[in-house]
Amino acid sequence: MPHKISVHAERDYEVLFTQDWKVSLSELISERSRCAVVVTQAMREQVGNLEAGDCEFTYCIVPDGEEGKSPQVLLQLWDWLAAAGFTRSDIVVGIGGGAITDIAGFAAATYLRGIDWVAIPTSIAGAVDAAIGGKTGANLDYGKNLVGSFHSPIAVLVDLAWFETLSDRDFAAGFAEVIKCGFISDGEILTLLKGQTVGAIRKDSALLLDLVSRSVQVKAVVVGSDFKESFNREILNYGHTFGHAVEKHSSYQLRHGECVSIGMAF
Ligand code: GLY
Repeated sequence: MPHKISVHAERDYEVLFTQDWKVSLSELISERSRCAVVVTQAMREQVGNLEAGDCEFTYCIVPDGEEGKSPQVLLQLWDWLAAAGFTRSDIVVGIGGGAITDIAGFAAATYLRGIDWVAIPTSIAGAVDAAIGGKTGANLDYGKNLVGSFHSPIAVLVDLAWFETLSDRDFAAGFAEVIKCGFISDGEILTLLKGQTVGAIRKDSALLLDLVSRSVQVKAVVVGSDFKESFNREILNYGHTFGHAVEKHSSYQLRHGECVSIGMAF
């Protein structure tokens, strides 16, 4: 099983499978002077106080879910970075689900015309999809992701321990993106999943790592061949067109993965 998976986009970076994200993050940013950690209030408590060399940490608390991906939150993030004196050599870290890593990445993409950022996904959908591939953005009242930018992180740190905190519902919903990777590219994912239950996968860390790694590999290959979605990156949207309509119709009460599952079945 690979310890890391390389992504070759507008910059080369690694998706690192770590057993201690705090240690990996500390090693990665120990030379930086300032780090902005973008998290929700609930996640802030789990993250605790981070340390890395002489790096000064600023914790930016944003609303959970799609609410956190608004232009107002983006404006607030820019202000926090400016107020703390962030320069081009400083760094942003997004810790959370896809909405958090999307808005953290977009703040990094736009502040000072682009500074480095790190994604630390805490959900399965985030780890296998949102955090990888450099799509960052915010929502407008007119729709999801209507503003954004392609800006790859310098690293993605995947620590499977985060997934233990997910409810069965969120865990299962995240698997829609894993199953999607099975349908579009790696059929072995479907074979491995046949006859499995959420409970069984949760107990089998080797299987979980295999499925997540395979999905990350699928995404890395697609993104490496078409970073700016000019031809085949669109394949990653399998199940999403109808799924997004269902998601919007449910007023975001259904999970993204649940809607993508409906979209794939459709
Ligand atoms: N989530 C689809 C993509 O990254 O292209």
